[in-house]
Amino acid sequence: MKKLILDVDTGVDDAQAIMIALTAPDVEVLGITCTHGNTLLENVLTNTLRVLKVCNRLDIPVYEGFSKPLLDRKQHASDYHGKDGLGDVPDPDAPGVELLQKETAAQAMLKIARENSGEVILVATGPLTNLAVAVQLDPSFPKNLKALYIMGGNTESRGNTTSCGEFNFVADPEAAFIVLDRYTCPTYIAAWEFSCRSSLPWSFWDEWLSVKTEKAAFIRKISELSMKVSSYQKEVIAGQGFNPCDVFALAAAVDDGFITESEKVAVTVELNGKHTRGMMVLDYIECLKKEHKAVIMKTVDLEKLKKMLYDAVK
Ligand code: BDR
Repeated sequence: MKKLILDVDTGVDDAQAIMIALTAPDVEVLGITCTHGNTLLENVLTNTLRVLKVCNRLDIPVYEGFSKPLLDRKQHASDYHGKDGLGDVPDPDAPGVELLQKETAAQAMLKIARENSGEVILVATGPLTNLAVAVQLDPSFPKNLKALYIMGGNTESRGNTTSCGEFNFVADPEAAFIVLDRYTCPTYIAAWEFSCRSSLPWSFWDEWLSVKTEKAAFIRKISELSMKVSSYQKEVIAGQGFNPCDVFALAAAVDDGFITESEKVAVTVELNGKHTRGMMVLDYIECLKKEHKAVIMKTVDLEKLKKMLYDAVK
């Protein structure tokens, strides 16, 4: 049984990732920690509870994390995810925040990892602020983890938020720097360009959500806005289809055979550049003298991905 903690900024693709985690075989979600990111933290909390409600899994503990990055002003991805982070289609009966746990996200990560030492897989699909604080509170935290999976960063200096930077890293560059530096557990990265290249054909989208279930209807409803934006991106980024970025990190965490090609390289984050702040740097020629190398995903099994997406909305 794989034991997961999900650190999310629930947005549309985080919602899809959570739904996969809840339906994947032999996977137990021990907790969901929330961070600022795609939308304000308060929306992220409600969105996460909304997803759990649709999945009938409000028993899973949800924790409140940081509402802003370590240094910068907060930024959100409202153009894509909507102002509320879930496509601006509110649920008047959304579960209330009284369901949240009392511990903070960072405390919860430390506690869950201590109690399940060596077994916990942490999947981070938002800015890495909670993870950075957790390792500052307890430097031994990464040793208690089995692995870390991140959706974030970029490999070919092609950004989606700045010219060179991917949203999750740009939204808190210092946190990303700390995490890539201090998490010496096996670390897997689904970077932005990889996710674009691994996009699913547009025809899949309609097939996927033609299933007549409450979960499929929910995904369709919250995704409408982001799909319009993606259609626009399709014309801008040649070859791009439906790109559920966060789902790639989650899929790799729950299925060891999902990654079909990868490379191991030390990585860090640029903190100073005027145009490059937040950009992931790949140290192919080992200038950084870092022993720890991250696994950078290059290709994945898209048939497995489709199955996971279908199972998630059944
Ligand atoms: C990342 O940014 C967010 O908008 C998505 O949820 C994903 O985590 C892609 O850059």
